[in-house]
Amino acid sequence: MSGHDEADLRSRVARLSVEQKVRLLTGADFWALYPEPDAGLRRVVTSDGPAGVRGETWDERDTSANVPSPTALAATWDCDRVAAIGRLLAAEARRKGVDVLLAPTVNLHRTPYGGRHFECFSEDPLLTARIGVAYVRGLQGQGVGATVKHFICNDSETERMSVDVRVDERTLRELYLAPFEAIVREAGAWAVMASYNGVNGSTMTESPLLRAILHDEWGYDGLVMSDWTATRATEAAARAALDLAMPGPAKRFGPWGDALLEAVRAGRVDEALIDDKVVRILRLAARVGGLDGAVPVTPAPVDVPRELRATAAASFVLARNERSLLPLDRSGLGRVALIGPNAELARTLGGGSATVYPPYTVSPLDGLRTAGLDVTFAPGTLGHLRTASARAPWLLRPDGSGTGADVRFFSPSGEVIGSEQRDAAVFRWMNGFAAIGAPEQIDRLEISCVIRATEPGTYQLGVTGIGRFRLLADEALIFDETLTVREGADVGETLMAPPVKLAPLDLAAGQSVTIRLEHDVHTSPMAAFGTFFQFLLEAPHGTDDEEMEAAVALAASSDVAVVVVGTTAEVESEGFDRTSLALPGRQDELVRKVAAANPRTVVVVNSGAPVLLPWAGEVAAVLLTWFGGQEFGNALADVLLGEAEPGGRLPTTWPASEEGLPSAQPDDGILSYTEGLFIGYRAFDRDGRDPLFPFGHGGGYTTWSYESVTVDCDLDRPSGGPGVAVCVEVRNTGSRPGREVVQVYASRPDSAVERPAKWLAGFAAVDADPGETVTVGILLPERAFQHWADGGWTLEAGTFTLAAGSSSASLPLTSGVTLK
Ligand code: BGC
Repeated sequence: MSGHDEADLRSRVARLSVEQKVRLLTGADFWALYPEPDAGLRRVVTSDGPAGVRGETWDERDTSANVPSPTALAATWDCDRVAAIGRLLAAEARRKGVDVLLAPTVNLHRTPYGGRHFECFSEDPLLTARIGVAYVRGLQGQGVGATVKHFICNDSETERMSVDVRVDERTLRELYLAPFEAIVREAGAWAVMASYNGVNGSTMTESPLLRAILHDEWGYDGLVMSDWTATRATEAAARAALDLAMPGPAKRFGPWGDALLEAVRAGRVDEALIDDKVVRILRLAARVGGLDGAVPVTPAPVDVPRELRATAAASFVLARNERSLLPLDRSGLGRVALIGPNAELARTLGGGSATVYPPYTVSPLDGLRTAGLDVTFAPGTLGHLRTASARAPWLLRPDGSGTGADVRFFSPSGEVIGSEQRDAAVFRWMNGFAAIGAPEQIDRLEISCVIRATEPGTYQLGVTGIGRFRLLADEALIFDETLTVREGADVGETLMAPPVKLAPLDLAAGQSVTIRLEHDVHTSPMAAFGTFFQFLLEAPHGTDDEEMEAAVALAASSDVAVVVVGTTAEVESEGFDRTSLALPGRQDELVRKVAAANPRTVVVVNSGAPVLLPWAGEVAAVLLTWFGGQEFGNALADVLLGEAEPGGRLPTTWPASEEGLPSAQPDDGILSYTEGLFIGYRAFDRDGRDPLFPFGHGGGYTTWSYESVTVDCDLDRPSGGPGVAVCVEVRNTGSRPGREVVQVYASRPDSAVERPAKWLAGFAAVDADPGETVTVGILLPERAFQHWADGGWTLEAGTFTLAAGSSSASLPLTSGVTLK
């Protein structure tokens, strides 16, 4: 941002009237900031988010590279790889006209019930910080802004708009603020998002923490924007360090605009505060190339499929591999039974604002077939799934020309005022209707398509959405239904899991039927700026009992069974928390029956967050794959066949049961973090409980021995920073090259302070060939030995134990370091 120093920014502010300045402090529309030619400011565009760059439209016409879920990125424990994903997202952002990404989400995995768990990195503040710093450096290094969110303690979704989180100062500092602090200080984040919730009595968009911590303590010079509609008060929010209320415009959303102008004129809000906010907006614009004279960075080109495929494989956690069933040996491999509904329909992302429309997805079935394996598929169970949107091969354009549907928009007088030709049956207009402009002009819209039966039987056709819908087949009315939002539902739930209306239609093989779906747009709760719904179709299938029997028979007669179980974007989503960690429906029963029929059973768990795996000890192999992004199926084939290492280690503990986990449910509007410092592995250690799979756990396809640990070794200190240098020597004792994530945990026996039994202090990955011994250096930051007491960071002088190994539960080497 050469040339745009503080004086330049201030002189631009000085050119503006107070009206112009206040206008800049609320978004111009759902995603963009106001342009202000008098300040040399162009329109600056924000966009979610963590799974890919959505852009300003939100449908299949403007697709986005879908990266693996943030849990997957953290599971790589690989900062270079995550920085590369940051660069990929920057290239995507520029391609889609986006300046500021609304990511990363660095709230912690306080509890696995958290609906946005998949969207956050880890339960551990250090791992979250390291991954977050790499992500932001990768992104911002290419000239696209990061928005670190959600500040602070938005670690679950229930009552997120109003809940007051009660958390003690030490826990706040050592756990929840720690990733934000590292990212602000080390990566210099350009934006931070203030969350919906309150903390210790103040709603975050008005909280004194914004100024006291971000500005005064951390010297943050970036912008604080509100989460969407989180700004509630005119003056209190203006006096707090909130700079930008999103979305806009002010006349529709939020309490700034004219009310703030009035407060400034009346002297209730100091104009100097407004100037500071505008400086921060201009600084952000300068950084992303949005201020005249700023030269935007052109991000380096990226081989997107290759990067996504390698990253997904690097995130898969091989949690169990009895008798070395994996990798499968392609040469002698007979028929592969591929089982489970998640095997056919790729589940590549979680739900909510992080949803994007990928250009394609590779399902496990596609991936294994493309790899040349002899694969037979059986869903095994379907009963738990929400009906999917209509798609190929059934969905055809009205003229039968290909997959898709036509949309026509009607004015109140019944005239056609616009149309769209679409390739899919998911409709989401959130920022007006591009085909027409102002949403007020539209009264009704109509979807037309043809459904052609591939096999005879009962098809279920319908809609999921909110408002009034009429479905007609060959001009006969099938239903006329008004679907209403559940009382008290969050906007996230409304968007991700709205009510469903289905009706049966019997079709003969090859029979075509012309469909018209009409929707009265003014009945949508989002009518002011759009509407959203999906046209649904479920093809004929057997009962769950029949499907399960067929899957078990297939497994019994196959060489190996690969069962893909998991959740979906409607189970793991923004806007609500999970109330159970069990796999939905009869998937546990399916796994047990398949494993009983074929001892060579691999279970692939396709979920963004931990689920319970009560059968884990009964199956030969368990591979945890997260929501793997658009290249999921290819990466799965690579890992199952040993063409890539399953590189992941758990970024969060996978519990064996729901016993003792922190609750996400507020009590009378208050969510108390009574567990304090003891979340994740810190809680399991304290309670002496064994998880199913511990934090840091995961194996590759070779074996390792931990040979030695040396403290205060000679280490290149790239950041020149202080800290404790540790060198760990490991040997690859297996027969394949491999990669090991060496983890170092600190502990403090005989401490005068209450502490976790151990905590992650540093980590590094290392590659070695068979028989090779390598030494890896890890710099443990000073902060890893400090605790928060009496309003500051402090070191309890004395000896800390350092333990090195391959997970929080396997630490064969120990040493000590004495600090004063
Ligand atoms: C989410 C944010 C997101 C914003 C804009 C909110 O509901 O909490 O994470 O960036 O919407 O889509």
